[in-house]
Amino acid sequence: MQRLIRLLDATDTELAAHGRRASRLAGDIAATMSLDANLIGRLRVAAQLHDIGKLFIPDDILNEPGPLTDAQWVELRHHPRMGYELVRDRVPSEVARIVLTHHERVDGTGYPNAIAAAAIPLEARILQVADAVDAITSDRPYQRALSFDYAIDEMIRCSGTQFDPSVVEAIVSLSSNQAWVDSRFSEASPLLSEVAV
Ligand SMILES: [Fe+2]
Repeated sequence: MQRLIRLLDATDTELAAHGRRASRLAGDIAATMSLDANLIGRLRVAAQLHDIGKLFIPDDILNEPGPLTDAQWVELRHHPRMGYELVRDRVPSEVARIVLTHHERVDGTGYPNAIAAAAIPLEARILQVADAVDAITSDRPYQRALSFDYAIDEMIRCSGTQFDPSVVEAIVSLSSNQAWVDSRFSEASPLLSEVAV
């Protein structure tokens, strides 16, 4: 498992950094939901590895500054399954399943299997929120970083369709803790650039 994390670090530092930030956020959300330490442990590992399948996606798709073509979308959507295939024999099956299901949606319109609600592991439903909040608040090839407040509004807007309402509720409750927001999202915070978990 550590070897996979090192592979990600060595191959794509931004993908690895996104994984670490998503892992911290997911852990904070799970702790707010009072979930047990075993669940939080596998969630944090899966969050670090969740996009490892993007190592197989061509750079011109990952770095595309404009909207993707339909064909590029089809290719990008292979990454959860490619990541799953890469990790499945190297991590516990629950962790591999979180990697596979991190782009499913609670309304059943996600990918790769269009499963809905409780058919998606709880850890993956938590990771979906952490992943989206980190993506929105980070610079991306097609968009500059947006504010944490904007990200929270997006989570609320998509609660019950893309995201599990109980997970959205947990991050909304965290968002009222200013010390936590500052520690995770302030420019000056060392946590944003810290490499180790
Ligand atoms: Fe992903």
